[in-house]
Amino acid sequence: MVAQIDTDSPALRLRDLRKTYDNGVQALKGVSLEVAPGDFFALLGPNGAGKSTLIGIVSSLVNLSEGQVQVFGSDLVAARSATMRLIGLVPQEINFNLFEKPFDILVNYAGFYGVPRAEAEARAEEELKRAHLWNKAQMMSRTLSGGMKRRLMIARAMMTRPRLLILDEPTAGVDIEIRRDMWKTLQEINAAGTTIILTTHYLEEAEQLCRNLAIINHGRIVEQGPMRTLLAKLDVEGFLLDIDGELPAQLPRIEGAQLAAIDSHTLDLDMPRAMDLNRVFDALGGAGIRVRSMRTKSNRLEELFVRLTGNLAQEAA
Ligand SMILES: Nc1ncnc2c1ncn2[C@@H]1O[C@H](COP(=O)(O)OP(=O)(O)OP(=O)(O)O)[C@@H](O)[C@H]1O
Ligand SMILES: [Mg+2]
Repeated sequence: MVAQIDTDSPALRLRDLRKTYDNGVQALKGVSLEVAPGDFFALLGPNGAGKSTLIGIVSSLVNLSEGQVQVFGSDLVAARSATMRLIGLVPQEINFNLFEKPFDILVNYAGFYGVPRAEAEARAEEELKRAHLWNKAQMMSRTLSGGMKRRLMIARAMMTRPRLLILDEPTAGVDIEIRRDMWKTLQEINAAGTTIILTTHYLEEAEQLCRNLAIINHGRIVEQGPMRTLLAKLDVEGFLLDIDGELPAQLPRIEGAQLAAIDSHTLDLDMPRAMDLNRVFDALGGAGIRVRSMRTKSNRLEELFVRLTGNLAQEAA
């Protein structure tokens, strides 16, 4: 069956995707998601959230249990090979032959996908140049640095000219310089028109690169939307206030801020960053509430992530 490539369709559409592994683990519990053509999209989530399962399904490494996957309108189950041809995958682990040369790795990969030799060689040159690896084309891959090896993985995935590039934790465990370097490469690829989806533990990475994101936890999407909207939502400061004595039954209302009692002598306060703290203290004082001490809650994406997943973002370490 020929893929129905439809330029109006989302680059990726998941409908109620479910995956139960043979051992009974429910890795995905009904995930629905749309990624627009041209988007740079992050799938964020803690260990075991289901990110690799989701990506494995989309790239046909894992069979889905229920639900639907469409790539540019082409159904993964009904038109598997045609759909797969639209996708380039960069797995987390380096999995090329270290005793092959970058040029050969790329040409052979394209050959495997049916790209004619001459065309494959032309593409290999183009991709190696884009990855700033042209001067390494004829060296043993083993001798490349960690960052170069990762760029080679991306170059290889680009050999089939995918419309959707999917990367599973492309920068896990690499140092910040390599990470920045890869961000640049990915931004160039995205600017040239390829839709990109990546999974990451690194909140900073999602913030730097992605226009839209979904946060996944325990096999469900817990938050989804534009990065900017999410960050705006987070443009609040959170404090915990320790109160002298007992809180009154009725808390004062403070315009623009949110106040909640955690227990009889602790208040949870969320307020816009720009708001004057004195207003809060005045209102509290007026209601007979005396603040003994206050602490900030952690902030921004970190905070949201923790709030949504109940999981410290410490995997990033
Ligand atoms: N082949 C498998 N067989 C059985 N269970 C699996 C298999 N692969 C993953 N799981 C389970 O499915 C759940 C989701 O795993 P998955 O690898 O998709 O998470 P992840 O979000 O990629 O995590 P990480 O950030 O650690 O890579 C986990 O509970 C995991 O143990
Ligand atoms: Mg994973």
